[in-house]
Amino acid sequence: MLDLFADSQPWQEPLAPGAVILRRFAFRAAPQLVQEIETVAHCSPFRQMITPGGYTMSVAMTNCGRLGWTTDSRGYLYSPVDPLTGLAWPDFPPSFLRLSQQAATAAGYADYQPDACLINRYVPGAKLSLHQDKDEPDLRAPIVSVSLGLPAVFQFGGLKRSDPLTRILLEHGDVVVWGGESRLFYHGIQPLKAGFHPMTADCRYNLTFRQAGKKE
Ligand code: SIN
Ligand code: FE2
Repeated sequence: MLDLFADSQPWQEPLAPGAVILRRFAFRAAPQLVQEIETVAHCSPFRQMITPGGYTMSVAMTNCGRLGWTTDSRGYLYSPVDPLTGLAWPDFPPSFLRLSQQAATAAGYADYQPDACLINRYVPGAKLSLHQDKDEPDLRAPIVSVSLGLPAVFQFGGLKRSDPLTRILLEHGDVVVWGGESRLFYHGIQPLKAGFHPMTADCRYNLTFRQAGKKE
């Protein structure tokens, strides 16, 4: 497939106060990122988590880094141990850390030290309902969110669930960074449309970097 953007420079689109879309920022790193996702999933497999309310999530998830986002009957939590394997989550591949720090810097957030990366896998029909990323104790650090593979419609709202939503098509290599005033803004992903992407076939991956522990 001819990709007209393959050789173009990344560009930025403001999204909200403190939030920016870095279009194609991860395009060049993407082949390595996708390969590393497969390596991580070899140790800590993708699984469809069950929400505290008893619903099986349509998005399959795994994690890497010191802490991993997971669920149990008590709620959502960050754990140093993968409950599926009983072992620590795989370490951050160096390419993950590099890319997330470069993106944070490009978005105006210096000294980004993420310790958690949630890896989401969407197949056609999978979605993520509107939510806030609010399980992190230190809200000064931004969220860095990397899109790979099939495109998806991202919804970005405000501090209230009922605030108006901006809908943005996120494509392969796009990175969204939100922090500061928009750190707790509601967001979600509309059901994925079926398609084929040369790097991920029939799915979309999303890497969500967070600083989930306390910064020393
Ligand atoms: C998330 O909010 O955790 C993921 C967003 C995305 O898949 O782009
Ligand atoms: Fe989120």
